Amino acid sequence: MTLPAHDTDLRHWLRKLPKAELHVHIEGTLEPELMFDLARRNGLSLPWPDVQAVRNAYRFTDLQSFLDLYYAGAGVLCTEQDFHDLAMAWLQRARADGVVHAEIMFDPQTHTSRGIPIKVVFAGLASALRQARQDWGLSSGLLLSFLRHLSEREAMDTLEAALPLREAYQDLWIGVGLDSAERDNPPEKFARVFTRCGELGFHRVAHAGEEGPAGYVRQALEILNVERIDHGVRSSEDPELLQELIHRQIPLTVCPLSNLKLGVVERLEDHNLARMLRAGACITLNSDDPAYFGGYLLDNYVAAARALELSHDELVTLMANSLRASFLPAADKSRLLDQLAARVGQA
Ligand code: ADE
Ligand code: ZN
Repeated sequence: MTLPAHDTDLRHWLRKLPKAELHVHIEGTLEPELMFDLARRNGLSLPWPDVQAVRNAYRFTDLQSFLDLYYAGAGVLCTEQDFHDLAMAWLQRARADGVVHAEIMFDPQTHTSRGIPIKVVFAGLASALRQARQDWGLSSGLLLSFLRHLSEREAMDTLEAALPLREAYQDLWIGVGLDSAERDNPPEKFARVFTRCGELGFHRVAHAGEEGPAGYVRQALEILNVERIDHGVRSSEDPELLQELIHRQIPLTVCPLSNLKLGVVERLEDHNLARMLRAGACITLNSDDPAYFGGYLLDNYVAAARALELSHDELVTLMANSLRASFLPAADKSRLLDQLAARVGQA
């Protein structure tokens, strides 16, 4: 089957098919309009005069240049209502893109370091996620992510501060992640905290091989025992590693527009996701920080499809991979995979 020639038709087809978003940072969904609303609401000033000036500042040269802005923007999030509004705004867009399940990263240390209690963050996000589940049947989970530019001690303290909330959020808090500045912050730095998370029964994911070398992907697998790699695009620099990822079907949650905006690839046409997919890797498409990188989930699908000449079947595989790679119970996965197959058949 050939793909629709016009992007609006392609989007329409993609939208109807069930898919999961597995790599999105909730702080990275903060649109400049909401950033200004929340700053006003909380009596805070921003280093930009208006929304347009913020957007103009979104010219990144690498991961760190983005992170500096991203952490500054997140400084407007103060109350439970702020976290609720942030999550709800993203959920509405995700629903419009045909997302049926989301596993969402959040960075508590970005907020606790400003004196915002971790329970405020959990409560605000949870009320929005539960509302989306109840009203729209959009299921979700939370991945508490440790900031790798900080120490392992601080990660451990964050985990200990969050654990008393586990029971209250057991329907949502499914696992942990590792994000922020990758260079010089190897996965092995977080060996003990990830071991503890494994013992506690949390799912584990980590950013690796975004800017850092393929060796960091190996460390994430062997030392942190992660079940998914976020990004992982530099894995292909080590053919043996890539073969292992394929053999074990370890998912790579790839974010094409993020990679383009942060200079991980110079042109989308050069992205290795299609080559890895065609070699049998479990690739999923995701949006990372959509408010900063100029694209939500469907924008990533359409951009990748056009730049890499992905086929109809390859796009269906990417959507099926997103469901398979999720941490949903097996029965939910097979129900959604059946739904995907049925809808593809109808199209
Ligand atoms: N935090 C938010 N987005 C990130 C990314 N792309 N890489 C690492 N840390 C992040
Ligand atoms: Zn990310």
